Amino acid sequence: MPQPAGSNAGAGSAGAPNAQTTSAAVSQSPTLRIGVAGLGRAFTLMLPSFVADARVRLVAACDPRQEACHRFVQDFAGRIHASVESLCNDPGVDAVYIATPHEWHAEHVCMAAAAGKHVLVEKPLALTLQDCQRMQQAVAQAGVQLVVGHSHSFNAPVLETRRIIERGEFGAVRLINAQYYTDFLYRPRRPEELDSARGGGVVFSQGAHQVDIVRLLAGGLARSVRALCGNWDATRPTEGAYAALVPFENGAFASLLYNGYGYFDGDEQAGWVSELGLDKDPAAWRSGRSRLQAGTLNQQSEAAAKAARNYGGKAYVAAGGLSGGNNTNGTDPVTRHHQHFGHIVVSCEAADLRPGPDGVTVYADGGRSLRPLPLSAVPRVEVLDEWLAAIAGTRAPLHDARWSLASMELCLALLASARSGTEQALQQQCAPQSLL
Ligand SMILES: NC(=O)c1ccc[n+]([C@@H]2O[C@H](COP(=O)([O-])OP(=O)(O)OC[C@H]3O[C@@H](n4cnc5c(N)ncnc54)[C@H](O)[C@@H]3O)[C@@H](O)[C@H]2O)c1
Repeated sequence: MPQPAGSNAGAGSAGAPNAQTTSAAVSQSPTLRIGVAGLGRAFTLMLPSFVADARVRLVAACDPRQEACHRFVQDFAGRIHASVESLCNDPGVDAVYIATPHEWHAEHVCMAAAAGKHVLVEKPLALTLQDCQRMQQAVAQAGVQLVVGHSHSFNAPVLETRRIIERGEFGAVRLINAQYYTDFLYRPRRPEELDSARGGGVVFSQGAHQVDIVRLLAGGLARSVRALCGNWDATRPTEGAYAALVPFENGAFASLLYNGYGYFDGDEQAGWVSELGLDKDPAAWRSGRSRLQAGTLNQQSEAAAKAARNYGGKAYVAAGGLSGGNNTNGTDPVTRHHQHFGHIVVSCEAADLRPGPDGVTVYADGGRSLRPLPLSAVPRVEVLDEWLAAIAGTRAPLHDARWSLASMELCLALLASARSGTEQALQQQCAPQSLL
């Protein structure tokens, strides 16, 4: 694996001592020693962040895919565990990153909490409100910190937009329009990802991002949701699209739309910058379905095609420290933009704000201007910053279990609204932590 300057990968390597890490478990170690549950796609995307950040070190992992474990031993001289429970109970692990499929999040978070380990868990928090509440209680009782990430509400331009709103620069938020067109449904998938009952479809996987962003920008307290879902390809029998209207307690309202059926590419609206912040070639556009068919031709199944692209797989290409790691074509593109989640416009009383791949564009009476935001040397650094500050006790996390439970309540209500044809009231909403 390429090693960026200051990288902490490799056998026995250790990053610089970190004065921020002061919790009981962490103070015994100069770096946060992370155990990884699930070495798949999400891990592949977070890996450049872990490798480039000297405050953390990957020391152990658990995954049924032998090729991923083999690679983890090669890259990090890490310990491999046969079960997530054993990983959580490893005394050399300070904290656990849970990147297993949705349906395992609740069980694995509770295991980590029971072992007294801090948790970074991928979105969505869980698939039911009861599981979200169980996880919230487990981490509270254990006195450990849980952050749900990565989610695109961590993107620097989204956070900066929230700060502009919090400072009241352009008055109150009145309307938010968020939309994203992608090929989500036609990327190689595990069977569960196409089965709504097991967390499949765009609402759990992509709505979790969009709902989190919109709640953050609108102040968090959604009142209700009225939604419709699309499920129109019998070969991919799950929600591939949705449209939702959400009023908030403060009078703002939002329109959310996601279409994962793979024709129009929403990255065009972001200046042909991909979700991961990479430049895209418009001439290379192909429909999602034709891309999937070409990509799985040599595989026995789609799940195998997905695993092959993941860490340790045959088609996996290790990312450079800054590239975000989604390249599969043998090249190693460098990220030149922030990550984004499609087209978002926040209408305040005195301006429209558009978080985009290069910063926040403000459209106001004084003119149109881009407030550029510099790229961090560590990709997705906001996730590690928030988690490490929570562990150190220096800043309460925004994306904690309480916040993420409220986002899941909205996602679940969105699905219920589409099924029932009725508006669904929300009971579990909360305001975000201040970012100022
Ligand atoms: N934030 C992001 O950008 C992002 C991107 C992709 C996925 N995700 C999230 O990450 C989670 C995983 O999705 P994915 O796309 O990486 O799936 P994936 O199939 O690519 O990876 C899952 C990995 O977990 C392993 N695994 C499965 N069951 C396990 C178990 N019981 N114990 C240990 N390992 C197990 C699998 O072998 C696989 O390697 C999902 O919740 C998804 O929403 C987040």
